[in-house]
Amino acid sequence: MNTPLRWPAEAVWEAVVPDLPGFTVEILPEIDSTNTELMRRARAGRFDPVLLVAEHQTAGRGRLGRDWHSGAGSESASSLPASLTFSIGIPLAPRDWSGLSLAVGLSLVESLHPALSLKWPNDVYFQGRKLAGILIETVGIAETPGARYAVVGVGINLHTRSGDRLATPPAWLQELLPGMEAPDVLQRVAPALIQTLKAFERSGFSPFQARFNARDALAGLDLVLSDGMTGRAQGVDEVGALQVLSAQGLQKVTSSEVSVRPAQKSAPL
Ligand code: BTN
Repeated sequence: MNTPLRWPAEAVWEAVVPDLPGFTVEILPEIDSTNTELMRRARAGRFDPVLLVAEHQTAGRGRLGRDWHSGAGSESASSLPASLTFSIGIPLAPRDWSGLSLAVGLSLVESLHPALSLKWPNDVYFQGRKLAGILIETVGIAETPGARYAVVGVGINLHTRSGDRLATPPAWLQELLPGMEAPDVLQRVAPALIQTLKAFERSGFSPFQARFNARDALAGLDLVLSDGMTGRAQGVDEVGALQVLSAQGLQKVTSSEVSVRPAQKSAPL
């Protein structure tokens, strides 16, 4: 029989609530998707700040309309969850939303391990393989002009898992931090991530720019973008746009609908 996981719900709540009044933590054994659930609540007018964790998702979603598989059951080498999956719902009113997802990725890599890097816009990489992904969705808050409810979804691979159904080969946190299970990882990343969201709301992306560029897995690589552009990656600018030096000069890529890959498959990430 599986031992129930001991989640640090109270410790996370205590760390966050002084800066985020009304904040709650919810842990669910199973749900379709933590992002889908918080988006449902927001569309029903519920905009409370919340951390929603699921031990298992039955219909996890990724960026660009992709599925996100948690690697549960037979895919996992352990009876413990193969990944940590959670979403933070938070009302935010930044002057400019550009770069939010990059700041979220940076917060994760800085909380987790110095060996991790970021593939623009926000995938977390270890040695050319994807360790974590982020999906951010927002809903307007009609009664507060300028504010939106942001749903920031995070999936972090913890244990070895099959890469069969994944477009990118996976990495997992226990390669770097043996023995770290989902509750420990939640404690390590969630309060810091909420601080990052509040800092982003106050000051935008520019204070994160240099730190993102220090962790940029694409820096200096020749790239091919899904819109056909090619060029050499030159880091991100003060609003988080990817700078690509192409034959036409320095281009700035802002669309989260554009995907990016190194021109040579063997190039290191
Ligand atoms: C990506 O890499 O494309 C983004 C993956 C985001 C996955 C997380 S898991 C928790 C939250 N709920 C979802 O359905 N998706 C996000």
